[in-house]
Amino acid sequence: MTAPDTVGYTPVTTLDPTKHGSIGNALPRVDGPRKVRGEARFAAEVPLDNMLYAALVYSTIARGRIATLDTSTAEAAPGVALVMTHRNAPAMAPPALFFTEPLAGGASSLPVMQDAAIHWNGEPVALVLAETQDQADHAASLIDVTYETEPASLSFDQAAAHARHPDNVMGEPPLLEIGDAEAALAAATHKVDRIYETPRHSHAAIEPHAATVMWDGDKLIVHDATQMLNATRWTLAGIFGLREDQIRIHSPFVGGGFGSKGLWSHQILAIAAAKLVARPVRIGLTRGGVFRITGGRTTTRQRVALGARPDGTLAALIHTGTVAMTTHNNCPEQFTFPAKHLYAADSFRLEQRVADIDMVANTFMRAPGESVGTFALESALDELAEALSIDPIELRRRIEPEKDPTSGLAFSSRHLVEAYAKGAERFGWASRNPVPRSRREGEWLIGMGVATATYPYYRMPGGAARITLTKDGHARVEMASHEMGMGTATAQAQVAADCLGVAPEHVTFEYGDTAMPSGTLAGGSSQTASIAAAVAAATRELVAQLLQLAGNASPLAGLQPDQVEPRDAGLGHREQPARFESYASILARAGREQVSAQADAPMPTEMGEHSMHSYGAQFCEVRVNAITGETRVSRFLGSFDTGRILNPLTATSQFRGGIIMGIGLALTEETQFDERSGRIMNPSLAEYHVPAHLDVPHIDIIWTGRPDPHAPLGAHGIGEIGITGVAAAVANAIHNATGRRIRDLPITLDKLL
Ligand code: MOS
Repeated sequence: MTAPDTVGYTPVTTLDPTKHGSIGNALPRVDGPRKVRGEARFAAEVPLDNMLYAALVYSTIARGRIATLDTSTAEAAPGVALVMTHRNAPAMAPPALFFTEPLAGGASSLPVMQDAAIHWNGEPVALVLAETQDQADHAASLIDVTYETEPASLSFDQAAAHARHPDNVMGEPPLLEIGDAEAALAAATHKVDRIYETPRHSHAAIEPHAATVMWDGDKLIVHDATQMLNATRWTLAGIFGLREDQIRIHSPFVGGGFGSKGLWSHQILAIAAAKLVARPVRIGLTRGGVFRITGGRTTTRQRVALGARPDGTLAALIHTGTVAMTTHNNCPEQFTFPAKHLYAADSFRLEQRVADIDMVANTFMRAPGESVGTFALESALDELAEALSIDPIELRRRIEPEKDPTSGLAFSSRHLVEAYAKGAERFGWASRNPVPRSRREGEWLIGMGVATATYPYYRMPGGAARITLTKDGHARVEMASHEMGMGTATAQAQVAADCLGVAPEHVTFEYGDTAMPSGTLAGGSSQTASIAAAVAAATRELVAQLLQLAGNASPLAGLQPDQVEPRDAGLGHREQPARFESYASILARAGREQVSAQADAPMPTEMGEHSMHSYGAQFCEVRVNAITGETRVSRFLGSFDTGRILNPLTATSQFRGGIIMGIGLALTEETQFDERSGRIMNPSLAEYHVPAHLDVPHIDIIWTGRPDPHAPLGAHGIGEIGITGVAAAVANAIHNATGRRIRDLPITLDKLL
C-alpha cells in the first residue's frame, strides 16, 4: 500500500492507514442498532397529525384516453376525503427529465395526471385519500374507468425493426467505431458472432416506494424514500412552482434502492392531493404499485462478434444491439460500456439503439448496462476460449490492454490480471476440466465458469459538507447524502474520523435531509468518493479556522494549513511531533463552544485525465440436474479490484449483495410484459423470483486492495460492480457442466431440457 492517497487531487490530510486507525477497519454499521431495535423510521412510518392515506387506481390500457371516469361511489364511501383525477388535480409542470439539467431528477418527462391521455398500462388515473389505508384501498376499487384505446407499440420485435439511435448514451455518442470492425471480423480466422438477450427486471427493494408529505402554508415537507435528495427537491420545485428553499426533503433511512428510489409519480400525486385537502398525506405503494408506476431494467437484444487470431488476440470487437425504451425518458441501458474499456482489439464497433415501447419509463438498476452488457461480452469470450482451446482466464490475460483501448487514456489503477490470479488460486480453478459435461455426481452435472466484472469510477460534481467540532472533542459532519442500506453512514464516519484525526466513535455523520449542505445522488457508485471529497475540502477549511483560533499562544503559532495535519484529536506539525495542540485546548483558549466549517467538493476532474474503472473476476461453480434441468449455484467467489476498501465488513456485504442480485439475473428474475396489452403480468414477489436463502451458497469475497492514486482516499464506489459478470460466470459454468450454451436470460430449467 505504497501508492499516494490523493495524487491528482488536492491533498488535505495524510490518510496513511498506518497512522490513523479508522479507514480499513471492519466497523459494524453505525445505524444497525437503531434498525434492529425498530427505531429507524422509514418514509411510510412517519406519523403526522390529521394524516390521510392514499391509494391509486392504475390504467388497464397501454395507450389511448380515459373515456369515462365515475368516482361518485368512491366519493361516498366511508372515510373518503378526496378523489383526485385529471379533472381536479392542480396544474403541475411536467417533471424535468434526468440529465436535462444538473439537478433534474424526473424518471419520465410526462405530465402527471394533467389530462385524459394514457401512456402506459399502469399509469395512475385516480388517487383516493381516506382516513385509513383500508378505506382508501376500498374506495379506489369502486372507481369505474372506461377507455378509448389507441394502437400501442408493445412488440419489441416490431419496434426493434425500426429502432433509433438515442440522442446520447449517458452523455456519450451511441456509436463508437475504431477501424473497420466488420471487415476485420470477416477476415478473421476464428470468430464468434452471437445474439444474447436479457429481459426486463424489477429492483425488488424490500421497502416499497413511499412518501409522507405535508404542506405548511407555502412550504412543503416530504419524508421520502430517495437516493437523490437534492435532485428531488429541485425537480419538485419546478413541478409545483416553488423555490427550493420552500421544500425540505427528509430521507434518513431507505430500505434498498438499487436505482429505483427516485422521483416517480406517487410523490408528485401525494403532494398535489395534500395541497387540495390541506392535510398531510401518506402514500405507500403496494408491491403491485411498485411494478406499475416505477420502472426497472429494460430488455436488451445484443450482438457480440469477436474476430480473433489463433492465439486469441482480437482483430475485431463488435458489440451492438437494441433495448426497449420510451419516448419520455432517456435510459438506454449502456450495455456497450464494458467493451469500451476491457480488452485490446484492433478494431471496434460499439452501437446502441432504442426501440420505442409504450411502457412505464425504464430506469437505472444496479449497474445499468454493465450488468447485462457483461453477460453478452463475457459469454462470447467464453465461447471464443472454447473454440480456440485456450483457458478463459489465459485468453483474458492475452487481451489485457496496456491503456484504455478506445479512449487511449492511461488507466488510473487496473489490476484485473492479479484479481484473476488470486481468485483462480483460491477457487481451485486449476481443477476445472475444460471439456464440457465431464464431471458428474449422480444426477448432477458440475461445472465451473468465470467472467470479468467491471464498473466505472464516477464522482459527481457538486456536493458540500459541513463539519462542526465541539469543545468536548466531538465532530459532527453534515451532508445531504443517502444511506439506503449500503453502509454509507458507517464508512463516512470512518472517513471523517481519519480526516479529522479523531476516533470514529467521536464522529457523527448526519445525512438524509435537504436542510444540510447539498449532497450528490447515491447513484453510479459515486457517493463514497463524492462525500469523501467534500469532507476533505471542509476539513481543509476547518484546519484554517482552527489555526486562526489557536493564535500566538499555541504550539501551532505561525504555522500554515499545509504544515499541519489533524491527528490525535488535534492539529500537529507534519514533521515536528512536539508541535501539537488538541482541538479541545484550541477551543478552550479561544473561549469557543464549537467551530464549524463548510466547503464545496472540488470539481471531479480526475475522470477526464485517466480511464477510471473498477474490475473483478467472478468465479462460479454450478450443479445442474441432468434430469430436471434445475441449476444450483454451489460455490461462488468474487475477486475485486476496486481501490482501497474503506470498511471490509460493509464492503463484503455490498459485493455479496451484488452477486446475489446477479444470481437472480442469471437464473430467475424476469418482469414479464404482455405484448398484447402492455400489462406487467407478475407484479409481486411471489411471481417475480429473487434468489432466496437456499438459492445462495456461501459467497467468498477477496480483493486486491490497491488504492487508486487518482481517487479521493484511493477508494472506488463498490455498490454496483458486484452484479456485473455474474450472469456470464453462471452461464459459462452451466456450459461447462452441461455442454449447453444458453444466450437468453434467465436460464430457467426449461431451457436446459
Ligand atoms: Mo444505481 S442503478 O446508480 O442506484
